[in-house]
Amino acid sequence: MLHSIATSPAVPAPSLERLKTLIAADLHKTNQLIQAEVASEIPLIAALSGHIIAAGGKRIRPSLTLASALLCGYSGDRHIRLAACVEFIHTATLLHDDVVDKSELRRGEATANALWGNQASVLVGDFLLSRAFQLMVADGSMQVLRVLSDAAAIISAGEVKQLAISHDMAVQKQDYLDVLHAKTAILFASACELGAIVANKPGYQQPLRRFGEALGMAFQLIDDALDYTGTAEALGKSIGDDFRDGKVTLPMMLAYQRGTAEEKAFWQRCVEGEEEISDADLAHAQKLIAAHNTVADSLLEAQAYGDIARTAIAELPESAAKEAMLETLAFCLARSY
Ligand code: IPE
Ligand code: IPE
Ligand code: MG
Ligand code: MG
Repeated sequence: MLHSIATSPAVPAPSLERLKTLIAADLHKTNQLIQAEVASEIPLIAALSGHIIAAGGKRIRPSLTLASALLCGYSGDRHIRLAACVEFIHTATLLHDDVVDKSELRRGEATANALWGNQASVLVGDFLLSRAFQLMVADGSMQVLRVLSDAAAIISAGEVKQLAISHDMAVQKQDYLDVLHAKTAILFASACELGAIVANKPGYQQPLRRFGEALGMAFQLIDDALDYTGTAEALGKSIGDDFRDGKVTLPMMLAYQRGTAEEKAFWQRCVEGEEEISDADLAHAQKLIAAHNTVADSLLEAQAYGDIARTAIAELPESAAKEAMLETLAFCLARSY
């Protein structure tokens, strides 16, 4: 029976459900491997890495590796190890990132640096990155090693560039986009490309890589918007960390450009000045960002990357895996966590 639009049930919000259901068995194996690989006779390694891994996280990047392998018709088991490897690179960067950003909340739990201190977090981050390299070598493919070692080097360089351009209101949008590309988009791109590599489908590599790259750009643009508009309850991380760290992201950059002289002076004091940022400063920053509607611009920018991602895989044959990857993209554009 046909329903009129008015009586149809509301269209459900895009979620990760379709993706997670489709790859459930592989994701379970990946999670088991992740747990096995962080086992260590050094209690601090097991405790600290166990803490951040058990706290969960969305597991988007390894899920993309598993889905892209499925999309490419792969039937072996190399993708499990590589999905774990991708999550290890991600987790290592989170441990380091939370030290650099002085963050206190991650995945709804106190950060490792808050619980064990900066030194332990940096060292266990290094351990996880080393584990990732062991997993790449165990896979044995020089192509995989190239993709993932390039990604690891580019992510680190992106984090350094981000640090170098912080506390400066004169930063250009292109520099900001370059940082996003390096620190986030490259790992999403690699995660997606790996499926085509293990399946030996060279023609699928570039479309999947470009899909992941644009998805990663959109993902980080939304993350930077949520740093002002999200809630700690939903996100599992503290709001306003970027502002407190003097990180000039798109919502702030545009609010500054559109601001009055008085507003510009406020941003300069907070970002470039020496004083500690107060809760009232953050509230004022959020008010200015809302008044200039700049989060809407970030969303538009993210949607434009969403269009690039969709176009990138349009040529690939229809399949349940492709549908799930497209819904993952929709989720990332609409996400609140
Ligand atoms: C956080 O990534 C780091 C960014 C690139 C913004 P996620 O939001 O995927 O983190 P988890 O793994 O779900 O915790
Ligand atoms: C992403 O940047 C960090 C990495 C890709 C390493 P953010 O600093 O915005 O990530 P969150 O917000 O702390 O998760
Ligand atoms: Mg951070
Ligand atoms: Mg962030």
